Amino acid sequence: LDYYFIYGPHPKQVLEQYTALTGRTPLPPIWSLGYHQCRWSYYPESRVRLLASIFRNKQIPIDALWLDIHYQDQYKPFTWDASRFPNPKAMISDLKAQGIRTVCIIDPHPTVEKGYEPYDTGIRDDHFVKWPNGTVFEGPVWPSLADRNPNLSVFPDFTRAATRHWWGTLHKSLLDIGVAGIWNDMNEPSVFIHPTGTMPLELIHDQEGHPTSHREIHNVYGQLMTRSTFEGWQALQPNERPFILTRSTFAGGQRYAAVWNGDSAADWATLRQSVSTLLGMGLSGFPFVGSDIGGFSKHPSAELFTRWLQVGVFSPFMRVHAEFDAPEKEPWVYGHRYESILKHAIELRYRLLPYLYDLMHRASCTGEPPMRPLCFEFPQDEHTYSLDDQFLFGPDLLIAPILWEGAHERKVYLPSGIWYDFTTKRKFQGGKTIAVRADIDEIPIFAREGAFLLMQPVVQHTGEMSGTRQEILIFPGAQSQREFYEDDGATLAYQKGGFLKRQFVQTRCEEETRISISAAQGSYRPLERPLVLRIVSDQKPRLVSMRLPLNEREEEIFLPYLQPEEFEVYSRGWTYDEQVISIKEDDRYGSFSFSVYYQ
Ligand code: NOJ
Repeated sequence: LDYYFIYGPHPKQVLEQYTALTGRTPLPPIWSLGYHQCRWSYYPESRVRLLASIFRNKQIPIDALWLDIHYQDQYKPFTWDASRFPNPKAMISDLKAQGIRTVCIIDPHPTVEKGYEPYDTGIRDDHFVKWPNGTVFEGPVWPSLADRNPNLSVFPDFTRAATRHWWGTLHKSLLDIGVAGIWNDMNEPSVFIHPTGTMPLELIHDQEGHPTSHREIHNVYGQLMTRSTFEGWQALQPNERPFILTRSTFAGGQRYAAVWNGDSAADWATLRQSVSTLLGMGLSGFPFVGSDIGGFSKHPSAELFTRWLQVGVFSPFMRVHAEFDAPEKEPWVYGHRYESILKHAIELRYRLLPYLYDLMHRASCTGEPPMRPLCFEFPQDEHTYSLDDQFLFGPDLLIAPILWEGAHERKVYLPSGIWYDFTTKRKFQGGKTIAVRADIDEIPIFAREGAFLLMQPVVQHTGEMSGTRQEILIFPGAQSQREFYEDDGATLAYQKGGFLKRQFVQTRCEEETRISISAAQGSYRPLERPLVLRIVSDQKPRLVSMRLPLNEREEEIFLPYLQPEEFEVYSRGWTYDEQVISIKEDDRYGSFSFSVYYQ
């Protein structure tokens, strides 16, 4: 057993050093940060297509639909049930044309069945876990409890490089038809044997030629499965970013897969628990996490579902899921009022996606999780140490979700400094606990003074982002700065300079607020787009100008004032409305700045 002592001393440094040791989550494809809809299971194909069209008709943004075990032929990994999904390739491509990706579940238990390729090749090449006497272990999982095909299953020995490679190659059939994500489930591994629910401990794993028992391998089995999926994907599609979700993993597994916290019951105590679990996972090196929105088992009330989804807006992985016999959990099932509330919450997620993407980029460089406890940013404030019912979303937003049934208000602790209510822009002095009201359609969110939030208008899916107006919401302090990262959101071009990085600096004095934007680093450029700065201010400015470098000098151009109702119509100018100064200009990639003069 090796011990590592990580000195830090700041929690950010501890996590940075810990993830230098165990690895970091690679930048995910941007669609995986959108809204995902799942249940056990959506089938047949007509139902999946119908769901996609309802989302689009109702204009509820979504990026992915998930297929749970019923898409497979008799629950066999890497097969399709031909009666439920007669033409998966066409379905996946039609969904993709609507901006909706398809994610498929893959469990680690091929069925014992001659003539089924993963079984035949796995037996032929010795890929399955064995008993000490050398016979292959066969155990019951889904098929044994299923309506059809009561066969037992075998389990790949992911401790062997050759087995990981073989398992990786099996994904070709899925990736070739456009499957965009793989969901690794049941990989503890789950085996329906009582009372352990997993493999007998005396089973033997090869462990790269150093055989050992399952006792030693149990905790890393799930992580090795995700490694095999990830590496197989890299080999099959070398210029893509794999998206894998896993239930089981181990320290370091953040390199391969996002994680959800497993089956949760649809009750308020579990919702509360899920928040602290996700925060703990973030501190343990796993930034890309989420819970089953609405809970997995049981029947969430409209109120519980709504409050859970409001937490989901700020969970890096945002997926609604439901157990086999749970009621429907699409955003429209609770009636018009809730549909509109849920739609607005999902829209907020999409408004904040550029900010979240930047946070995921940061996580990939330093390990810092987007969803983080207050003590991560304010370690000097002991009051934050025990807070797990409010959290930070990046460095600049404090989220205080409602986590109690029937509650319309709650206490929120604001660390020292100035904070603003994100919605009303009301100012609060921090260093104390305040009481806030939040009706069912409201999420208490506070922005820190000096905050920069990279935002966009609502899009229906991430494929609509390039060329969409870039909005930067600024809560000015005396001086603050922030670097923002963008790229194509899909390929690995960013590793060869295909990104866009800029520094935003704001300085404020009595007469002027100035926002400077540095020249862009990197070669990525989105489609031509407007840039909109929104600066929170309780004072209406007198003039607003833009400065551009011109030869050796700087040119100052005064921007036209627009009435608030004209702002959307004109391509440049400024206005002041509801305590926000809005400035619109074409986005550009050299250095430039804006000055807001109050006198
Ligand atoms: C167990 C997983 O935790 C759950 O999310 C999934 O729906 C079922 N397996 C069926 O695949």
